[in-house]
Amino acid sequence: MGGKVEREGIKGGKARKKKDDFFDNFDLMPENSSYFPQVMQRYEAYPPLQGINQDFLATLLKAFEDKTFCAADFDAFPLALIVDYIRKTHVYYLHKKLPEIEQSIYLLSGLYDAQHPILLSLQNFFHQYCAELTHHIEMEETLLLPHIDLLDKCPDSPQQFAAYLLSMDKYSIAGFVESHEDTEDELRDIRQTINKYAPPSVNASLYRILLSQLQNFERDLCVHAHMEDEVLIPRALEMERLVQERLTAQARRN
Ligand SMILES: [Fe+2]
Repeated sequence: MGGKVEREGIKGGKARKKKDDFFDNFDLMPENSSYFPQVMQRYEAYPPLQGINQDFLATLLKAFEDKTFCAADFDAFPLALIVDYIRKTHVYYLHKKLPEIEQSIYLLSGLYDAQHPILLSLQNFFHQYCAELTHHIEMEETLLLPHIDLLDKCPDSPQQFAAYLLSMDKYSIAGFVESHEDTEDELRDIRQTINKYAPPSVNASLYRILLSQLQNFERDLCVHAHMEDEVLIPRALEMERLVQERLTAQARRN
């Protein structure tokens, strides 16, 4: 297939204006955001090949800071950059966030009586939640993201296009959307459950640390879900629609 499917690339002027607006409105350098270390941890473990896109980083931190997510803020960035963020975030959740929370639950559990009802809630939550989140991430890593990679590259050459057509036969983004559920609500539930019980009398700090880790993870998952549902998926669906249009036009010509 000749030519590229139309998509928005990073246009210096547009991205620069966004960054200026961001600094004007929020008077916030990325390094000063309380979310900066958290966001950077995923890039430190798996550094991007050509450095971090500073405009993307500023826009991302704005999304963490703001109450309302604005998908249009990410229009200027290529799909590959969004996919890269999503992949790094999955690694960060599985290898950093979940083990940290597991450790806190383990330490906190040791401070309550063996019969205390909070223990059952904590253990059940962790096993169920870990299993669900891991499954959720595996589905995206093994099916959705490889399919979107092929879709993104399909205008590059006839071979890439053929590879996408093969994938299209077996997988659909629309099908993924139907079965997709976000996971941050369950974190809020467990946080509310923990809040119903008093901290252990011997040491309240672990209790507070766990609550803060959960709240922080909730925020991260919320941005992640918005990024998938309102940026990644709509753009992938639009690209898929354009490819379909080309296929239909080609079929009519033949
Ligand atoms: Fe995800």
